[in-house]
Amino acid sequence: MVHGVERQKLVVGNWKMNGTRESVLKLLYSLQAGISTVPRTIQVVVLPSFVYLEETERRLKSTSIAWGAQNVHAADSGAFTGEVSAPMLRAFGCTYVLVGHSERRRYNQGSGEGIAEKFQAAIRAELRPILCVGETCEERQAGETLPIIYKQLDEVLGKVGIASFEKAVIAYEPVWAIGTGLAAAPQPVGAVITAIRDFLSKKDKTIAEKVGLLYGGSITRHEASELFKLPQVDGGLVGGASLNAAEFLDIARSF
Ligand code: 13P
Repeated sequence: MVHGVERQKLVVGNWKMNGTRESVLKLLYSLQAGISTVPRTIQVVVLPSFVYLEETERRLKSTSIAWGAQNVHAADSGAFTGEVSAPMLRAFGCTYVLVGHSERRRYNQGSGEGIAEKFQAAIRAELRPILCVGETCEERQAGETLPIIYKQLDEVLGKVGIASFEKAVIAYEPVWAIGTGLAAAPQPVGAVITAIRDFLSKKDKTIAEKVGLLYGGSITRHEASELFKLPQVDGGLVGGASLNAAEFLDIARSF
């Protein structure tokens, strides 16, 4: 490690397309009430659906919890019906935004170039992009985990350059582990995270040490305690379990 680089520990809840107005309000209340039990060294972040961002800002602005969005458009404004821009997210107090989540790569034709443009838009608006990478089950079985991840990283690096990664976060989310209850075992996760940092180090050692590297995929309070023991892992990107405030805060506390 480059001397003096202290990376922020991050526990991020991706709420996906879940929650009613009522359930989101309850969740926000419970998070607000419980966050003081999480050490301040751990940054807790929630990523609600766009329509709940205003309420999220209202409820969380006086807490240490940060929030963000699950997607962003590459352009700052314009004739893009149904889209949301990075400056709009900033205006609602967002700090983070997911880029290239596998569900979007799969269902919304998220191309490598499109993902790089979204990453760039986030940086332009001073949002911290959380770039998601990871292999499918077939790619894993074919022994292609690292080549696939390097390709996904290169698609963004090739367009935005390593300097743009200074404030970025990368989440390793194996597609086969998402929503399946089959979290990846800690050891292989540690190996992939180390490989990602080594890959970035070849471009710029100092910046590589600053990038937060998370794991995501079926994290529950059970997996979290093992996972967060790994010194390589800077945090977790939690889906289903983040919809339950008690469990999500437990996960954050297990760091
Ligand atoms: P689950 O925790 O529900 O597997 O979802 C992980 C994920 O996709 C977070 O972005």
